Amino acid sequence: MRTAVRGAAKVLKRVKEADALRVSTAGSVDDGKSTLIGRLLYEANGLYEDQLSSVKKDSARFKRESLDLSFVTDGLKVEREQGITIDVAYRYFSTPKRHFVIADTPGHEQYTRNMATGASTSDLAIILIDARQGVLIQSKRHAFIASLLGIKHMVIAVNKMDLVGYSEDIFRKIERDFALFAEKLQVPDMVTIPISALKGDNVVTKSRRMRWYEGTALLNHLENVHILSDRNLIDLRFPVQYVLRPNADFRGYSGRLASGVLRKGDAILVLPSQRKTRVRSIVGCEGEVSYAFAPQSVTVTLEDEVDVTRGDMLVHPANLPQIRREVEAILVWMDPSPLEPGKVYWIKQTTQTLKCSVTHLQFRIDPGTLSRRDAATLNLNEIGRVTVQCFRSVFCDEYTKNRQTGSFILIDPLTHVTAAAGMIIERGHLPSMARPGDKTVSRSAVLHRQEGEVSQKERETLLKQCPATLWLTGLSGSGKSTIAYEVEKKLMAAGYLCYVLDGDNVRHGLNRDLGFSPQDRSENIRRVAEVARLLNEAGLIVITAFISPYRDDREQARKIIGEDRFIEVFADAPIEICEKRDPKGLYAKARAGLIPEFTGVNAPYEAPETPALCIRTGELAADIAAGNVCRFLEEKRFLKKDAGGSGGHA
Ligand code: ADX
Repeated sequence: MRTAVRGAAKVLKRVKEADALRVSTAGSVDDGKSTLIGRLLYEANGLYEDQLSSVKKDSARFKRESLDLSFVTDGLKVEREQGITIDVAYRYFSTPKRHFVIADTPGHEQYTRNMATGASTSDLAIILIDARQGVLIQSKRHAFIASLLGIKHMVIAVNKMDLVGYSEDIFRKIERDFALFAEKLQVPDMVTIPISALKGDNVVTKSRRMRWYEGTALLNHLENVHILSDRNLIDLRFPVQYVLRPNADFRGYSGRLASGVLRKGDAILVLPSQRKTRVRSIVGCEGEVSYAFAPQSVTVTLEDEVDVTRGDMLVHPANLPQIRREVEAILVWMDPSPLEPGKVYWIKQTTQTLKCSVTHLQFRIDPGTLSRRDAATLNLNEIGRVTVQCFRSVFCDEYTKNRQTGSFILIDPLTHVTAAAGMIIERGHLPSMARPGDKTVSRSAVLHRQEGEVSQKERETLLKQCPATLWLTGLSGSGKSTIAYEVEKKLMAAGYLCYVLDGDNVRHGLNRDLGFSPQDRSENIRRVAEVARLLNEAGLIVITAFISPYRDDREQARKIIGEDRFIEVFADAPIEICEKRDPKGLYAKARAGLIPEFTGVNAPYEAPETPALCIRTGELAADIAAGNVCRFLEEKRFLKKDAGGSGGHA
């Protein structure tokens, strides 16, 4: 009994220690991918009894002379019937040396997207070439995508050698042709192996029919490829997936380490707030640990009560990712409807999902020749270089340095389909970007936070108020500004120090460079939130009056200002009423087509789902509405003067 337990523990340890190799395969319809995968599984004993018997049955049914191993990998009926693979399927098998995960990706030309999906997490790509056909445009396309995806190890498997009489000349020609093309790809480790998946030559054991070939068999190569150094264990990037708060005493942040190593006691910087703290504890799947590394999933607790939410990132203070709203990227377009520059898409990058648009398509890349082509759009399976403008900052690295933080997908907001896969690359033309070998120091090295000696508490005691930001949102003409100034009047009369930030006013000064595109509105709100935060830190109560039509932007403002101080107030009036009031005559102009992107007319307004306060401004007089807002502040204990003293705002 005891031996069995010890044995099981040993196996578990081995399973963990063995570095699984993730392999993707690509080839054209008849290149023999399925047979190759079947052969690997069969000979490495990766098949279950029932799989084997179903392969035997199918082989007989389709009148094959011997066991047809391509049936092994065919979970999908359609493939059997049409002779093509239609999706990405993962297969698992092990040898005493290693575990393997094989992504079976179809090679049919229109399936570039499947290739990108299957290969995106691979360590090694097998590109199959039919010895009779030589190097086809599709083989080049596969290799190109694999190199784009940053796969460092590639095997060119020249298959069906049995059908060309195991000819060395034919093999060498293919090897040379491919090498010529591959010079332009940056794949550090590429080997070419002559095989016959059908007959088993050079797949698991070395073939005696090709004695001229001096390399190893495919499986042997797969078992020995060194991949550990491919992992990024230098740059700590911990995107927070969940905030765990089982009770008031525990606050943990869960997620998967995208890269790097995290140790107990490490100094940590939280992005985007830039607050500094230390790691108090790390809990892995088997309890508390003193360190964790990518790609482990852990829960982290921090020394200080800093505000961290989903989508934030924990990093080491001296090793920051890039914090950018604009990224340059290579896109593999995956949607039958073509790319629409300027349209709003969702970008999903690490644990963040936010709005963005592709502002510039620089060129399309012809995968056959690797040359640039002018293009107005990208169609299904086309690849191009673009500029993506995000509605707020993402924390990212170049894909070549970090496959996790350097990649993203674009999602169509209407259909919810994955429209594209993207890989972030270095910005060529912006001087603010560090280039490889650049001697300039990073932002974090030249910017430091300074602390004053006056505490928040002292300010609160002096002013007899706790700072907060009342964030009024609503359509133009909904009465935001009127209520804001009414609240200001009441609070000042009661002896509280406050200040109104109003859309029209701020746009005359601080934000006069901004218009009304989604990006500009987003930047408008970000800057205002930063100002509100500063005023709050000075001790003031801030009242903002901005349409702030996008929920994401308001959520960003909440993050900047801080959950405890941000009070969302919805000035809720139906558009008909706002339009009837039309205090600035803008609705009339917008209807006449004179104002593009006017909120409510030809630009969206996303109403708050759970505002702290909702004021029906169509039904309520402004001073009553303002009274309600002041009462709310009083109830929530932001106002601290005695009701009997100079207080009592009503
Ligand atoms: S926000 O959308 O970025 O929050 P903000 O509140 O600063 O807008 O400014 C809105 C004010 O700008 C409106 O009250 C209106 O006077 C003016 N305005 C001019 N053009 C537009 C437009 N296209 N959409 C909305 N408001 C506009």
